[in-house]
Amino acid sequence: PLKVAVLASGRGSNLASLIAARDAGTLPVEFVLVGSDKASAGALRLAESAGIPTLALNPKSYPDRPSFDRALFDRIAASGAGLLVLAGFMRVIDAAVVAEWEGRAINIHPSLLPKYPGLHTHRRCLEAGDAEHGASVHYVTAELDGGPVVAQARIPVGAADTEATLAERLLAEEHKLLPAVVGAIASGRLRWSGKAMFDGRPLAAPLTLA
Ligand code: GAR
Repeated sequence: PLKVAVLASGRGSNLASLIAARDAGTLPVEFVLVGSDKASAGALRLAESAGIPTLALNPKSYPDRPSFDRALFDRIAASGAGLLVLAGFMRVIDAAVVAEWEGRAINIHPSLLPKYPGLHTHRRCLEAGDAEHGASVHYVTAELDGGPVVAQARIPVGAADTEATLAERLLAEEHKLLPAVVGAIASGRLRWSGKAMFDGRPLAAPLTLA
């Protein structure tokens, strides 16, 4: 099976959705490492409970971003992972380090990219008065939240919505979207060949998988 490493900074509900899909037999992958920049991350506790090797590295223990990222990604490479999934990893990654993972790293982001890269996506969606919100999974490039989008999930925005209600409803969609994309990579339907390819053709528009 495809060997998958996951990086997460927080609670880890997207990681939980991946583990649940694996346990249900719908996601044929092997989790080889869950890493975090936060020793207190819920994602690490989830991984421990699931028997997945974990790694917590503190950025403050390194002189600069490139040396932290080098150390972290050396460990990811040593895990044998063929795919790296950023599931709520809240750090910018050094461009040279990212380049080594071109086509082998994906990120889930809570907006309909290219709208709202960066932080506070739910708030920015509300402030813009958008009728629709969503989440995107994209290949990771040096540009923050800027790599090619492979799949999106959408939710309508209602008059009563707040940041909290949007975040909650969107998270439920993320939990279907991310396992679906990882599954498409594991099955070989989605792959990288200088660009994203789906069923042997260049991906023209984001997929709706979930
Ligand atoms: C998710 O909503 C994910 O899309 C977002 O962080 C949350 C992590 O939740 N990611 C980003 O904002 C990346 N810039 P989780 O820890 O429960 O999976």
